[in-house]
Amino acid sequence: MRMVDLINKKKRGEALSAAEIDYIVQGYTKGEIPDYQMSAFLMAVYFKGMNREETANLTLSMVNSGETVDLSMIEGIKVDKHSSGGVGDKISLVIVPLCACVGIPVAKMSGRGLGHTGGTIDKLESIEGFRTELTKEEFVNNVNKYKMAIVGQSPNLTPADKKIYALRDVTGTVDSIPLIASSIMSKKIASGCDCIVLDVKVGSGAFMKSVDEAVILAKTMVEIGKALGRRTVAVVTDMSQPLGYEVGNANEVKEAIEILKGHGAEDETTVALTIASHMAVLGGAFSDYESAYNHMRKLIESGKAVEKLKELIRIQGGNTDVVDNPNLLPQAEKHIEVKSSTAGYINSVNAEDIGVSAMLLGAGRKTKNDSIDFSAGITMVKKIGDWVDEGDTLCILHTNKSDFQEAERLSKNAFVIKNTKPEPIKYVHCVID
Ligand code: URA
Repeated sequence: MRMVDLINKKKRGEALSAAEIDYIVQGYTKGEIPDYQMSAFLMAVYFKGMNREETANLTLSMVNSGETVDLSMIEGIKVDKHSSGGVGDKISLVIVPLCACVGIPVAKMSGRGLGHTGGTIDKLESIEGFRTELTKEEFVNNVNKYKMAIVGQSPNLTPADKKIYALRDVTGTVDSIPLIASSIMSKKIASGCDCIVLDVKVGSGAFMKSVDEAVILAKTMVEIGKALGRRTVAVVTDMSQPLGYEVGNANEVKEAIEILKGHGAEDETTVALTIASHMAVLGGAFSDYESAYNHMRKLIESGKAVEKLKELIRIQGGNTDVVDNPNLLPQAEKHIEVKSSTAGYINSVNAEDIGVSAMLLGAGRKTKNDSIDFSAGITMVKKIGDWVDEGDTLCILHTNKSDFQEAERLSKNAFVIKNTKPEPIKYVHCVID
């Protein structure tokens, strides 16, 4: 086989066989296919797409490029969750304790943030002492005993995805449905869970900008899950503005604690309860979604859910005092209020620009090796549908940097203010199963 022939085949829009896809994936992972040929191939996929079978084969080849995790030592139906990436997305911090409370074993492997989107592992590391690396034994024991553990992804899992994702990031080929679907599903399949709940984000802060596109991505991933023997449900949720009010790391942990105490914003509380309830049904704790949802809500009202988060922090070595006193989390020195220069209703917020602003303030990484400032971030003061007067604060920037002017300009321009009140936002668009 020659890579140039396969590039040409995809350029003509023809379907590739399983063997051809595997040749490309394994060849690129081993360094036998150079970046320039892989870039051309990815761009051909971007424009010509892949059919269902090709996307499932691509997923499988990426799974086979590295190790797979054996979770058979964990009792019960292991349910995992994955978000397609957003801004202010602290949902994993909420659903893990909720599912653990109803006995669903959650053996969660999470990622770090890159670019405008955040990552659960960075958020957890803002809690003093919290260990995101556990030995395999600790991981398995914690899930068996406490029904929960959250760790960083093993470096040996899906090496093809790591290499291809990094190339996509710099070649304008991230927002391709077969490439996103295979990237997400390969990680989930390799991490050994039995069932998967996908949170497919749609809107200005997501890779999918329209509900139609998000539904296609959701259906593609559900089909891959089924084809590879994992029960998969996808929930298409709103990302037309940051989720909740906090964007960053320590401030998102603080907000996740508030959600678990019953004081969360309506959008993030609804999304968290929805995802957790689907997980609970897939895991066999409830026979129907409504009973699961009502039960999850009661866990929050009774204080049991937040106690479970405290337990998670304790068993992974973190300072549990942050739950009762979130001010113990890292705090930035500077707090800059971004003011509106006009009056009107907030019609839209460019969530990606808010995410980029938070990154510029120190909350995220431009490149993989950058270090981050846990205390940096943004507090949204106004959200879509709110009225503002001239001079009102739109959002507050938290940083230790003195060169925050670009973030200030970008975050201010992210708000579009008009005289008319926009339609209310739907937090959950649809569920695909
Ligand atoms: N998240 C992933 O893991 N992969 C993608 O391609 C996009 C979002």
